[in-house]
Amino acid sequence: MTRLRVAVLVSGRGSNLQALLDAAQQPGYPAEIVRVISNVADVPALQRAERAGVPAEVLSHRDFADREAFERALTDRLEKYETELVCQAGFMRILTPYFVERWHNRLVNIHPSLLPAFPGLNTHARALEAGVKLHGCSVHFVRAAVDDGPIIGQAAVPVLAEDTPERLAARVLAAEHRLYPYCLRLLAEKRVQVQGERALVDAPAGEQAMIISPPPQTPVNSE
Ligand code: GRF
Repeated sequence: MTRLRVAVLVSGRGSNLQALLDAAQQPGYPAEIVRVISNVADVPALQRAERAGVPAEVLSHRDFADREAFERALTDRLEKYETELVCQAGFMRILTPYFVERWHNRLVNIHPSLLPAFPGLNTHARALEAGVKLHGCSVHFVRAAVDDGPIIGQAAVPVLAEDTPERLAARVLAAEHRLYPYCLRLLAEKRVQVQGERALVDAPAGEQAMIISPPPQTPVNSE
C-alpha cells in the first residue's frame, strides 16, 4: 500500500499532531507523517514528533524578511520531502495567498468551532457568550481568508450550562483528536473531492442519531 505523504505544521502543544501520529502508526492507516515543521523552537509538538520517530525541524518566521519569504522556504522544504498533503495542527501563522494557492486543496486545517461560526481566536468563550447549545470543531481545506474553505468534516459537542471556556475547550479537543485522523483517512483514501467551494465526501452511508442539546429525557414529539 502506498501511503499519502503528509507534513504537519505546528506551533505549540501538538495534541492534534499526537492524534495524527498515533493514527499513522496503526496498521493499514493510509497516510504517513513524513515531517513535522514548527515555526517556534522548543515546543512540546517537537518532542512528540521525536518520540514517534518522525523527523522534525524548526523554521522560524523571524528569520525571514516577510511572510512570503518564510512561506517560500517552507514550500522548498515541503517539496524536498515530497509532501503530498500539508496538515496545519495548531500552526499559528496567517498564510498569504501565495502559499494557500501553491498548496490549493492540498492544505488542511483543524479549527475549534463549527465553521462558519466563530472563525478566529477565543472560539470557546465566544460560543459561550453567544449561548449556542452545540459547539465543536471543523477540518477544512485552507483558503486565503482566515478559517475559510471547503469543510471536510465536523464534530459537534453539547455546550453545558456549567461550562467555562476551559471545560468546553477540553470537550472540543477530545472531538478534534477523533475528527482529524478520520478526515485525514478520508483524504488519503481519495474520498474527498472539491467541487466549487464544497468538499464532497464519499463516506460510507449510515444514518447517525441526531444530536440534541440539551438532551431531552423523553421523546420530543408524541410519536
Ligand atoms: C486546537 O484547538 C486546534 O483546533 C487549533 O489550535 C489548537 C491546537 O492545539 N487550531 P494542539 O497544538 O493541537 O494541542
